[in-house]
Amino acid sequence: RPRVLSGMQPSGDSLHLGNYLGALVNWVKTQDDYDAFFFIPDMHAITVPQDAAGLRERTRKTAAQFIAGGIDLEKSTLFVQSQVPEHAQLAWVLNCITGFGEASRMTQFKDKSSKGGADASSVGLFTYPVLMAADILLYQPQGVPVGDDQRQHVELARDLATRFNHRYGETFVVPEAFIKKEGARIYDLQNPTSKMSKSSSSPNGLINVLDDAKTVSKRIKSAVTDDDTVVAHDRASKPGVTNLLEILSSVTGTPILTLVNEFEGKMYGHLKVSVADAVVETLAPVRARTLELLEDPAELDSILASGALKAREVASRTLQDVYARVGFMPPV
Ligand code: TYM
Repeated sequence: RPRVLSGMQPSGDSLHLGNYLGALVNWVKTQDDYDAFFFIPDMHAITVPQDAAGLRERTRKTAAQFIAGGIDLEKSTLFVQSQVPEHAQLAWVLNCITGFGEASRMTQFKDKSSKGGADASSVGLFTYPVLMAADILLYQPQGVPVGDDQRQHVELARDLATRFNHRYGETFVVPEAFIKKEGARIYDLQNPTSKMSKSSSSPNGLINVLDDAKTVSKRIKSAVTDDDTVVAHDRASKPGVTNLLEILSSVTGTPILTLVNEFEGKMYGHLKVSVADAVVETLAPVRARTLELLEDPAELDSILASGALKAREVASRTLQDVYARVGFMPPV
């Protein structure tokens, strides 16, 4: 079977609706047709300062949300990055074939480092996309299901795979980003021209998978809309309403055009109630199941440990091949 691989950072106390609709929902869909690997990049998380106990806790919480959101452990391999040492090992080799200028052009680094100035950023943050390329290439996947904001990083992984293959002989599959049209970019509810993100300026712009129904409802009902009262899908002139329509479409599977017809002549309030109800209905069972899973952290740890063993079988084969090709001494 062809393979997919993707990961999601343990960056907050909960995944947000962008993570859920942009990534997790698509991961769940790929499980039937692909040999799927999903992981929690805790090594990526420490590119910015982290509290140790907090990181471990959020790693478990993220794993619980993957399972609650539909990752099936019979079909998919679920693991934590730091438990598979091959990620760091391959990253070093790839660092040595990545151009300094090439890494400097990664827009996410530019965005993140511009906040505190390049001097305040770690070298880890700078080389983060190379570690991500290693994450991907180790598993030889055909597809990487991600949201739109990861497109450039997957592009770098493709470039590095091609370069390595050219220099050392066919080693890596050159992967493709699998980006769905719906839900690929969910925007902040209070600031609907920026993407929904953990680092959002106001918590009211965020919907978290683990928020209770009341909070979800309240935040959607107080979403920023647009000046006139017409429900229409137009990213440029009506970003707020367009975001709500896209969320509703993505959650219910109803095409945007059908929704626009349905809400023609109705007030924004009607749309907001429908979006709030649909999102609450989708997230409530995920939240409940997550809380249940978190009651048994030892069981979660053992699920992750067996995932890491399965992941290492694949990762170590690729790494051995790479080490031999670059001229390292045979394994001892
Ligand atoms: P991360 O943890 O920021 O995001 C996880 C996934 O959620 C998607 N996403 C969104 N989709 C739609 N709308 C949004 N507002 C939104 N915000 C986030 C992201 O596109 C992503 O698919 N570098 C990666 C993690 C990573 C990875 C990898 C991914 C590390 N190694 C290897 C794939 C393969 C990241 O920080 O994603």
